[in-house]
Amino acid sequence: MILLSGLIFIFLGKPGRCLEEGGGFIFNGDVRHFAVANDSVYVSTDDRLYQLNHDLTLVRSLTQRGILKEDKQENAFNFYRVSGKDEWNATFSVNVLLPCGVTDNGCGYCEVLDLADISKVRYSEPYLVGPVNKYSASVAFLVERSSTNETYILTAIQQDGSPKPKCSSGSEAVYLHNTNNKQQGGIFSFSDASTPLFKSKGDVSFVDGFQISSIIYLFANVPSENEDNKVRLIWLEGKTNKALTMKSLRGASLDISDLGGKGSRLLASSVVPGGPSVLWSGVFSVDGGQVNTELVMFDISPDLTLKKEDPDFCSAPKCDGINVKAKTLKPKKTLFRQNYMTSVLAVTHKSWMVFFVGTGDGQLFKLAVDNNYHTTCPKVLYRANDDHKVFPKIHLDEVDHKHLYVAFQNQMKRVPVSKCSTYETLQDCWSAQDPYCVWCGSNRCTFEEECPDSDWLSIPEDYQQKMVSYTVTKDATDQITLKIQTHLTVGQKSLSNFGCQISSSFNELCSRESAPPQFPQCTCILSNSALPTEGLDVTIRIRLGKIDLLEQLKLMDCSDIRGPATSDLCKRCLDAGCDWSQDVCSWATAELNKYNVCQMKMNISKPEISSITPSIVSFYGKNHALLTGHNLNDVTRVRIQADMDCTPRESPVWNNTGVNLTFHIPSADSKGVVKVCVVLPDGSCHGNTKITYRSSPSCTAVTPSSSWMSGNRKITLTGSHLEFVEGVIHSHAMGDVRLPRNSNSQNLIYDTPAAENTKGTFTSNVFLKIANETLTCSTSITYHPDPEFISYTSTRSRNDVHMITVKKMADKLEMTPAELTVWGIQDEKHYLCNMEAKSTHNETDVFICEIQSTSDTEFQHLLIKYGDKTVGLGPPSLLHQVLLTLRILLIPCVTVALVIICWWQKKLTAEMNKL
Ligand SMILES: *[C@@H]1O[C@H](CO)[C@@H](O)[C@H](O)[C@H]1NC(C)=O
Ligand SMILES: *[C@@H]1O[C@H](CO)[C@@H](O)[C@H](O)[C@H]1NC(C)=O
Ligand SMILES: *[C@@H]1O[C@H](CO)[C@@H](O)[C@H](O)[C@H]1NC(C)=O
Ligand SMILES: *[C@@H]1O[C@H](CO)[C@@H](O)[C@H](O)[C@H]1NC(C)=O
Ligand SMILES: *[C@@H]1O[C@H](CO)[C@@H](O)[C@H](O)[C@H]1NC(C)=O
Ligand SMILES: *[C@@H]1O[C@H](CO)[C@@H](O)[C@H](O)[C@H]1NC(C)=O
Ligand SMILES: *[C@@H]1O[C@H](CO)[C@@H](O)[C@H](O)[C@H]1NC(C)=O
Repeated sequence: MILLSGLIFIFLGKPGRCLEEGGGFIFNGDVRHFAVANDSVYVSTDDRLYQLNHDLTLVRSLTQRGILKEDKQENAFNFYRVSGKDEWNATFSVNVLLPCGVTDNGCGYCEVLDLADISKVRYSEPYLVGPVNKYSASVAFLVERSSTNETYILTAIQQDGSPKPKCSSGSEAVYLHNTNNKQQGGIFSFSDASTPLFKSKGDVSFVDGFQISSIIYLFANVPSENEDNKVRLIWLEGKTNKALTMKSLRGASLDISDLGGKGSRLLASSVVPGGPSVLWSGVFSVDGGQVNTELVMFDISPDLTLKKEDPDFCSAPKCDGINVKAKTLKPKKTLFRQNYMTSVLAVTHKSWMVFFVGTGDGQLFKLAVDNNYHTTCPKVLYRANDDHKVFPKIHLDEVDHKHLYVAFQNQMKRVPVSKCSTYETLQDCWSAQDPYCVWCGSNRCTFEEECPDSDWLSIPEDYQQKMVSYTVTKDATDQITLKIQTHLTVGQKSLSNFGCQISSSFNELCSRESAPPQFPQCTCILSNSALPTEGLDVTIRIRLGKIDLLEQLKLMDCSDIRGPATSDLCKRCLDAGCDWSQDVCSWATAELNKYNVCQMKMNISKPEISSITPSIVSFYGKNHALLTGHNLNDVTRVRIQADMDCTPRESPVWNNTGVNLTFHIPSADSKGVVKVCVVLPDGSCHGNTKITYRSSPSCTAVTPSSSWMSGNRKITLTGSHLEFVEGVIHSHAMGDVRLPRNSNSQNLIYDTPAAENTKGTFTSNVFLKIANETLTCSTSITYHPDPEFISYTSTRSRNDVHMITVKKMADKLEMTPAELTVWGIQDEKHYLCNMEAKSTHNETDVFICEIQSTSDTEFQHLLIKYGDKTVGLGPPSLLHQVLLTLRILLIPCVTVALVIICWWQKKLTAEMNKL
């Protein structure tokens, strides 16, 4: 019955398995292509096409249509979106969806679908558009000829020496296909007035492409047998016909060799919207592998003064004999370093560029960059518990601009671009350096559109370290001027109500000559030019609409800030509005504070780190890690910092012996490698060791899946990253943390806790303990009563071998011979019985083992150990046989028999105690 309903379920085949918690959708296969339009999200897997609403609820899904009935499942899908007029019905003018497939025989098949309802086919034709191989490194997108508003499909197809597809009429690397029948040659045709040519000299794989105004950009990796891989950019001009467009090809090389890369490869890319220059970001593999990746920004504005020729591509029947050198473009900036990056999406918000970066281990980072290319701290927007790779393309929700569509293997998530509401104070909201977030009214951090009456403030247009900074200057007449500078962008309403209130224990701190406040600055000319040497506490209240900023400042005579030149003193100097140069604090001259001048060199015996154990942990961290090294005596904290991260975390140290110390490796927001240094009391940090954060452990299976009540059964957990597990806990005994006996990434072995005071079978859930985290295992363990041994027989098989047959009541424990240790006892001496086999007959489990002994006499009894428990088993007797029969027949034992058993048991226990 159960089997039957299971089968029915499979045959019905639900289209999408489920809507996941947190706005996700799980597909029946891996995502191959996806596109986001105003009303819907379209996703193709190997054998299905899905139309989803913006919140990722299913509208409809189709099995992939193919004209060859029997080859249906072999069809691969490419996926393009065509927007524009529809010539099949003059009044119909919504976008259409155009999936083109490849059939089993290497021929193509294309359909034009209605975007509003993908089950409506507008047009279909057997025609090859795009590559034959679904795993091909090829790209396809729509281009528009601006002079006529005509739309074409551009396909750039991987060239790897494989023969020309059977049904294709060309062997070009790049094609422009028509999108409607009014275009010369009819729909899907790629030739018009003359035959357009676009060849590559050798192998090439395409990564990305797009059009901005009349220029088409294409990005490709060009591998070479003798040289390193080249990353190539092609510019095409959208000319009046296809042949002229192809003939306009110009190229450049994107060269990151200055960053230390040899043979770098482009993995993913995204153009930064806005202009005038065309900024573009690429995820490069520095050394051609998957691990060492960098996000690099280039200016790829087309250079139309270049000659129309290229070393790797041409618009001629053959590219041989061309011997030109491509123009080389150098990066403007490395924006982000992180291992395993796979995808990037660049957007602009206000004056900021924002980059969303996906990784091979299932993480999504966000990075804001200002116009001077200063990057803020990378933030983790989403982190999968497992290592599913982020799909190379990330799309923004074009309607609300506040969500991203991110695909991982067979699922898609809709991730908010910001988590503004998690910042609870003005300071946190500003410090997040998130261009999407504003501090609204006086109480919440939110998106600007969600803040009424434009009474808000947010980060300024460029990167600043502090929300409010000070400069204190002293002029020739000894007049001291305090300038208060706010680093903010504010809404209209807040701006109209700006002011500063400066107060201290001095009467009338600011003289009346002080200039009136003018956003973003307030000025105070001190009425008294003498400041107490211990400094003057000043309270500054800055008003912006309903918002009040309260700041405390210790106003000092800058020449009073003296002492050994440490980074702490330097910070104190800058915080007071003074200037730090040549290790001395003095009155300010310039207005900008530069906190990075405070990193100093020290000439004391520097601490050194030799090792950290463990150095690979899960993102939950690790308590009591051991750090060894030299000169550690003065170390007060251990600092942990990700590459390019500006918010390092620090852990206090324990048990410092000078050559080793313990500390807690804190949990991390992201997976990856972080740097570790040790902090001295002056704030300086020394050493450069690494810790790697990996994914969370998970368990998928347990063997065996049962335990006996007395516990200590050896269990093997199977899963991933199990080496990070510090202990295993059972729901029936939460206080009893079982330490792993042995573990590696896939397996962990531990002993079950006992289940005391419990009668009958029950199920116990399994939890994993990692640092301060307790994770639930999806599997559980069933507890059954302890095994009951009934009797044994002993026979002499060969001269020196006794074969022992141990009978046990059949139960649900599925005990293996390896779980039992049996000894034969003879004259208080133990003879180990070597386990040979197990079999089950007639409600009885039979274990067979052999004892090597030349002695003729029979064993007086057996000792049997399972888990930590040892039981005795008496010699075979008639009584046992009788009792066994009675039990099997389910006849209640008679009192007399029970009494005898009790007596027997007592005698055995006494004997065991003697042992
Ligand atoms: C999509 O929506 C945006 C904003 O609602 C609108 O500006 C744009 O014209 C729409 N695009 C299409 C093709 O309907
Ligand atoms: C053409 O458009 C009209 C109006 O939208 C519609 O009623 C008609 O069914 C369409 N014809 C075809 C062939 O799609
Ligand atoms: C192209 O489209 C734009 C905007 O829709 C329009 O203003 C222009 O006249 C069109 N040009 C041609 C040649 O149709
Ligand atoms: C310090 O060492 C003692 C003794 O070795 C140990 O019990 C204690 O847990 C350690 N403290 C920390 C925080 O590691
Ligand atoms: C730490 O250093 C102390 C003192 O030198 C030494 O006795 C101890 O064994 C070291 N501990 C470890 C775990 O290396
Ligand atoms: C675990 O919790 C303790 C106490 O709150 C804290 O000191 C320690 O740093 C935490 N450990 C980790 C790895 O987060
Ligand atoms: C199992 O029981 C049947 C009858 O009850 C008996 O004939 C047979 O010998 C038994 N087998 C074993 C291995 O005990």
